[in-house]
Amino acid sequence: MIAIGADHGGFELKEHIKKHLDELGLEYKDYGTYSEESVDYPDCAKPVCEAVMDGTADKGILICGTGIGISIAANKHKGIRAALCSDVYSAKMTKVHNNANVICLGGRVTGRELAFMIVDAWLNAEYEGGRHQARIDKIHAIEEA
Ligand code: RB5
Repeated sequence: MIAIGADHGGFELKEHIKKHLDELGLEYKDYGTYSEESVDYPDCAKPVCEAVMDGTADKGILICGTGIGISIAANKHKGIRAALCSDVYSAKMTKVHNNANVICLGGRVTGRELAFMIVDAWLNAEYEGGRHQARIDKIHAIEEA
């Protein structure tokens, strides 16, 4: 299951991505926000990250206006590796090398079709493990410091 969430700046792109996930036949849960009324992006990141952290969701998609605020907020959650992506190569590689469990997008930055390609590249890529795991372990050691 994919957890998806957005603030008001990402609401419209979230709705398009949900339709795309429907077309792919992928299961997701929408954690809001549910309109273009102004909300605070840390509040939108939290339920999606918690769903990933407790295993309710396998991965998460988060969207704000730029993708920046919501990715900063997401990365404050223990065990979350959130990657803000605006190109397809990075989206693929953040799974292959960083095993990113959350992808972030900017609803005011990235067009709908490119966003679909970014999401697909991340969903279809496979984590390589090996030397990359030691690096990820070092990231999470920072959380314990
Ligand atoms: C909201 O106006 C905007 O600040 C937010 O969506 C995001 O871009 C923050 O990084």
